[in-house]
Amino acid sequence: MNINVAINKTYIPYLNKSQQTQIFFGGSASGKSFFICQKIVLDCIQGVNWMCCRNVAKTMRNSVYNQVVKTIYEMGLNNYFKINKSDMVITCLLNGCQILFTGLDDVEKVKSITPAKGVLERIFVEEATEIKEDAYMQLTKRLRGISANNKYIVMAFNPILKSHWIYKRFFGKWEDNKDSYEDRDLCILKTTYKDNDMLTDEDKYRLENETDPYYYNVYSLGNWGALGHIIFKNWKVENLSEMIPSFDNIYCGMDFGYSSDPNALIKIHIDKKQKRIYVFDEWYQAGMTDDELVRVSKEMFGQSYVTCDSADPKTIDYLALHNVNAIPAVKGADSINRGIRWLQGYEIIIHTECQNFKNEIEQYHWQEDKYGNAMAKAADENNHLIDALRYATEQLQMEVKIMAAKRL
Ligand SMILES: Nc1ncnc2c1ncn2[C@@H]1O[C@H](COP(=O)(O)OP(=O)(O)OP(=O)(O)O)[C@@H](O)[C@H]1O
Ligand SMILES: [Mg+2]
Repeated sequence: MNINVAINKTYIPYLNKSQQTQIFFGGSASGKSFFICQKIVLDCIQGVNWMCCRNVAKTMRNSVYNQVVKTIYEMGLNNYFKINKSDMVITCLLNGCQILFTGLDDVEKVKSITPAKGVLERIFVEEATEIKEDAYMQLTKRLRGISANNKYIVMAFNPILKSHWIYKRFFGKWEDNKDSYEDRDLCILKTTYKDNDMLTDEDKYRLENETDPYYYNVYSLGNWGALGHIIFKNWKVENLSEMIPSFDNIYCGMDFGYSSDPNALIKIHIDKKQKRIYVFDEWYQAGMTDDELVRVSKEMFGQSYVTCDSADPKTIDYLALHNVNAIPAVKGADSINRGIRWLQGYEIIIHTECQNFKNEIEQYHWQEDKYGNAMAKAADENNHLIDALRYATEQLQMEVKIMAAKRL
């Protein structure tokens, strides 16, 4: 069989490790996910069953599932696999081995998912900093028992915060001046964009010219991060499934994606009396066509008004033309800080499924001056859903301003 595979050389020694925990962490665009998907496909062809997961099932399709499918095509192996798109099950036609996908929020599925043939042998946890430690422990239980192949869990992530359980559990012997660690049970590889020979110039430029110290440290250098001046601490994550049908004070917002930035759509319910914002639905996807955006907007918002980033009037017009009630945000001077102050006056409750919003809010921080003091300016990154939330609530922020002006 002719396999067409270009693996970044840093990763080649990691094709055949046997430790029960294998960690690939570091900066963004360093080729971690790409390599692991290549390995999964190669393994499957050689008779190994894999399960790929992320914290929330909803985030699987546009990330790791699509990436594995793309890898199969890029390797020229599509004739050897049956790809069941609706169930997200990939079966190797040569040996019956499978690549399965699930979200860890689907607890029953995690417990029961089994390949058609043989046993589950390897698990990939994409963006592993999203998951809780007990979820990891549950996964280790799935790999008990004997099999012909080594069983292990592979995790990939950016090292967002040193206070994370992953750091405490696995990085006790890690030395910051080294790029790898290995013992009998654990191997760790740290990579950055410099390890990715296939990097685009755009990604390289973005990472080398990062101005925010936190993002530079974590996403360009791949070091464990420490956040100083976090903007929002007034939030928590809860399962809102049972409350959602009763939500009746709904606001919607949208931030448009440019180049590799995602389109970010958000839907919230506001309880004014209790001063609570319930973030209960999100969409977060890069590279969408206008028609896909229309479809998703209609599905998510129906006839509700959705306040959009006014920087892209063309897309707003396109949405409006296709019966999405899209309106431009007013923005104006100081609108970011006004929005932040207003949101800080509420308690923000995030539905467990809104993983991308949670990822953004936990890292959203003030820029720092050269002495490390917070400036009155939010770092302008990783804030797509947060911007969408500011647009969604803009009318309410303005009401407060008008009321205050009337009182004067
Ligand atoms: N072996 C490869 N062949 C071709 N392209 C590759 C390869 N490895 C990486 N790339 C390119 O580099 C990009 C970044 O790689 P990848 O998504 O794997 O990075 P990552 O380390 O997982 O980043 P993040 O931390 O942001 O998730 C890919 O989208 C792909 O375009
Ligand atoms: Mg990745």
